[in-house]
Amino acid sequence: MYRYSSRLRWDLPQNSISRAIAAKKTRGERLIDLTVSNPTEVLNNYPHEEIRRALCQVADFAYQPDALGHLAAREAVGAYYRARGISVDAGQIVLTASTSEAYSLLFKLFCDPGDEILIPVPSYPLFEFLAGAESVRAVPYRLVYDGVWCIDFDDLESRISEQTRAVVIVSPNNPTGSFLKLRERERLLELMGDRKIPCISDEVFADYCLDRTENAGTSLIGSTGNLSFSFGGLSKSAGMPQMKAAWIIISGPEDECRSAVSRLELLTDSFLSVGTPVQRTMRELLQIGDEVQQVLQQRIRTNLDYAKNTLHDTAGSVLRTEGGWSAIIRVPQVCSEEVWVTRLLNEQNVLVQPGYFFDMRSEAYVVTSLITIPEIFEQGLERIKVLLTQC
Ligand SMILES: Cc1ncc(COP(=O)(O)O)c(C=O)c1O
Repeated sequence: MYRYSSRLRWDLPQNSISRAIAAKKTRGERLIDLTVSNPTEVLNNYPHEEIRRALCQVADFAYQPDALGHLAAREAVGAYYRARGISVDAGQIVLTASTSEAYSLLFKLFCDPGDEILIPVPSYPLFEFLAGAESVRAVPYRLVYDGVWCIDFDDLESRISEQTRAVVIVSPNNPTGSFLKLRERERLLELMGDRKIPCISDEVFADYCLDRTENAGTSLIGSTGNLSFSFGGLSKSAGMPQMKAAWIIISGPEDECRSAVSRLELLTDSFLSVGTPVQRTMRELLQIGDEVQQVLQQRIRTNLDYAKNTLHDTAGSVLRTEGGWSAIIRVPQVCSEEVWVTRLLNEQNVLVQPGYFFDMRSEAYVVTSLITIPEIFEQGLERIKVLLTQC
């Protein structure tokens, strides 16, 4: 018997939902899938040809690695932020192959085995795996919903320990769609700055804002009070997850930033994971991505309006969202989320995600992707309504 590390639970059991999906697939049944969040699968006019042309324009495929990423590619990322009124110097930018890689680099940068990272709940379900893969403990802190999602600062503060090495903020958060509010930003920077705990701010959905005025300026880019790392990437900003390019923007006191960048450079130099073609076409891909983004923004609004209108006057409701790609639907607690999702699947042929998948702390919620093809989204919502009227 070979010995594997114990940093992860390798034998994740199949739950009743994944078993029901597998059975339907075996029977060749087509699902109304409201969970697809891959832009290459949901856009009819996906710019395959434009991407091909951008790649064809690259004349020089020489391998000239730069551990932080090619300067021209980092400058293109800087220009992307400048167009949004945010000043970012190429020297503050580190390119990575994905946001997941960005997390793993920062966990390596700050943590020894057994150290702790504070993560929001509910949120992106990958944190526990990403932390576990670095032998780091993901310690949850609560977001609370009271018509709007906010950080529970008492809970956050109570989770800080001697082992805390960073706090993760996701803004807008997946799936709650909540942005870090301006007053939360100040409080967070002060709380963490005093304790020298760096902030990791996942801002991959920042372009998808449904409520711009209230949350303007909530990026941690440019914050000076505390060492902060903001994430972005082609995956969401350009709708191009297949290109495998993301970035980290480092902000904070100048000498601390320099020290963090030089350490990150040592780490990225061991991997050099971002491909040359994507770096050479970063500027063009971001330009093409601007249009993808606009199409997605429009779709998100259309689907969100459809969901709200359809569920109006039913026992379900859509929670308020400020941005991102997801909508959370509250369904009556007459049965558990697992039962809701299984009944939707078996009786209505509709696939949604249960709230517990995102660590929602109470029941019962289901989560849908707002970038779903509208006709499919509409069919799915009508069927959710049918089930809601039966309960
Ligand atoms: C909050 C959040 N961060 C990051 C990602 C993934 O980004 P990437 O494709 O760059 O790894 C996701 C994917 O859905 C996400 O929800």
